[in-house]
Amino acid sequence: MPNKKGFALFLIALISVNDAYKILVIFPLCSKSHNNLGKGVVNNLLDAGHEVVYCTCFADKEKRPNLTEVDLSHVETQLGFDKDMEEQFKIKNLVGKNNFADSLFFMYVTYEIHRLFLNDDVLINFLSDTNQKFDAVVAEWFFSELFSGIAPLFQSHMIWFATTEAHWQILRIVDDIPSPAYSTDLFSVNIPPLDFLQRAKELWSVIKRYVILNCVVMPIEQHLYNKVYTPIGETRGIRLPSYYDAAYNGSLLLLNSHPSIGTPFRLPQNAHYVAGFHIDTKTKPLPENLQKLMNEAKHGVIYFSMGSNLKSMGMSDFMRDSLLKMFSELKQTVIWKFESDLDNVPKNIHLTKWAPQQSVLAHPNLKMFITHGGQLSTTEAIHFGVPVVGIPVYGDQHVNMKSAVEKGVGITVTLDDNMAGELSAAIQEILNNPSYSKTAKELSSIFHDRPMSPAKELVYWVEHVIRTGGARHLRSPAVNVPLYQKFYLDLLLIMALILYLTLKVLRRLFRQRTPVKVKES
Ligand SMILES: *[C@@H]1O[C@H](CO)[C@@H](O)[C@H](O)[C@H]1NC(C)=O
Ligand SMILES: *[C@@H]1O[C@H](CO)[C@@H](O)[C@H](O)[C@H]1NC(C)=O
Repeated sequence: MPNKKGFALFLIALISVNDAYKILVIFPLCSKSHNNLGKGVVNNLLDAGHEVVYCTCFADKEKRPNLTEVDLSHVETQLGFDKDMEEQFKIKNLVGKNNFADSLFFMYVTYEIHRLFLNDDVLINFLSDTNQKFDAVVAEWFFSELFSGIAPLFQSHMIWFATTEAHWQILRIVDDIPSPAYSTDLFSVNIPPLDFLQRAKELWSVIKRYVILNCVVMPIEQHLYNKVYTPIGETRGIRLPSYYDAAYNGSLLLLNSHPSIGTPFRLPQNAHYVAGFHIDTKTKPLPENLQKLMNEAKHGVIYFSMGSNLKSMGMSDFMRDSLLKMFSELKQTVIWKFESDLDNVPKNIHLTKWAPQQSVLAHPNLKMFITHGGQLSTTEAIHFGVPVVGIPVYGDQHVNMKSAVEKGVGITVTLDDNMAGELSAAIQEILNNPSYSKTAKELSSIFHDRPMSPAKELVYWVEHVIRTGGARHLRSPAVNVPLYQKFYLDLLLIMALILYLTLKVLRRLFRQRTPVKVKES
C-alpha cells in the first residue's frame, strides 16, 4: 500500500504529465460584467496550468504567472459612447423605453464594436506577431462572427463563448436554427408552451433577423473580414478560409446558462452550459463594516444593486427619494449599491459604492436581492439560493427575470419613476411568502447537482477540443446543410415539377379525345 505522501507525489506526477496549452482568450466588450466572465475563463484555465493571453479592456495591475494581457481599453474611447450616449443610458432616461437590443440600432452597434477592435493597431500588431502561437482561441460571441478569423490565423481551434442563454442566432453557427415554435428568441419574453400569436411572433422575429443578417449584416462583415484578416494572413503565410466557412467552423460553444436558471433548450454535442464557472468556490470574506452590518441585522438584509453598467446614481431625484422613503419604512437593513454620497440617509439604509456581490449573496441573513436582472446577477442569486425582485431594463434582463418569475424565485417590477409602491408590494410578498426562498434553495441545489463543477467542465471541454484536434467528431451534421435542403425545397420543387408534367400530359390526352367525343355527339 503506498502511503499518503507517495499517493500525493503520484498525483502531482500525473498532473504534470498533463500537457499545458497556450490559449488566447478575447473578451473585447468594454463592459465590467462581460469582463467578469472573461476573467473567469482566464482564471480557470490558469488554475489548470495553462498559459493564457487575454485581450481585454480591463487589464489587471496584479499579474498572475503564465498570464499575458493585451490591453484594449483605449478602444472604448473610440466607441462614440460620448456624454450624449452616456446620458441616454442613465436609468432616468431608460424609463418606459422599448428593449433597444431588439433593434437595427443594436445590430449596428455590435458591428461597430467589432469594427473598432479589428481596426485597432494594438490588436492587429498582436495578431500579426509571428512569434505568437496558440492551441485554441476562446472568443466572446457578441452577435457577430467577426472574430472567427482569429483562429485560422494561428491555425488553431475556435471556441465561442456566449454570455447569455442559448438562442437561435448563436445555435445557427454550430448547429441549426431551432424551431421558433418552442425555442424563443433571446429578446423575447415568451416562455414555451406558446399560444398561436406567440408562435407567429417568434417565427416573424427569426425571419426578420435572419433576412437582415444574411442579406445585409454578413455581407458587410465579410468585406471587413477580408480587409482585416487577409493581410495578417499574408504576413503569417496563411491562406484564410472565406468568412462564411470560418463563421460556421467553431469547434465548441460554451454558454453562460443552465437549465435551472433558464430554459432547457436542446444543444448540439459541441455546446455546453457552464453557468456558475465564474463564481469563486471559496467566497471571499466581506469587508468588516458590511460583515458587522449583516451579522447584526435582526430582521434580515435586503441587497439592492442595478449592476455595474446601470448606475443607481442615474435615477431621477424623484425615483431615488421615493425609494429611500419606501426603504426607510422597512424593518430590514437595506444595502444599496449607490455610486455617490447622499445626505440624510435613513438609519436602516446603508449606501455603498461597491460591494462584493457574491459575498453579500452568501450571507445567511440576506432575505432578497433587488436586481436589474442581468445574467450574472440572476446566476449568482440562484447559486446562493436567494430570491430576487427584478427591475429589468434592457438586453436579456427581461428574459432572465421572466424565467425567474416562472420558476417561482422572483417578482418583476416595471421600471418607472413611480415604482416605489409596486416594489414595496413585491418586497412584502417575498418577506411574507416563504415559497420564494424555499424554491430558490431548491433551484440552487439543482444548479449545483452536476457531474462536475461548471469551472471544471469549462476547462475539460477546452482541453478536449485541443486534445482531439478540433473536436470534429462533435460537429453537428446540420451546420453544413443549406436551408433549402433542411426544408426539402429541392424535393418540393421536383414534386411540383412531376405534378405539373403529369397534369400537362393528362390534359393533352384529354384534349385529343374531346374532339372525337364532340363529333360523336
Ligand atoms: C506556467 O506554465 C508552465 C508550462 O507552460 C507550467 O509548467 C507551470 O506550472 C505554470 N505555472 C503556473 C504557476 O501555473
Ligand atoms: C475548421 O477548423 C479546423 C480546426 O478546428 C481546421 O483544421 C479546418 O481547416 C477549418 N476549416 C475551415 C473551412 O476553415
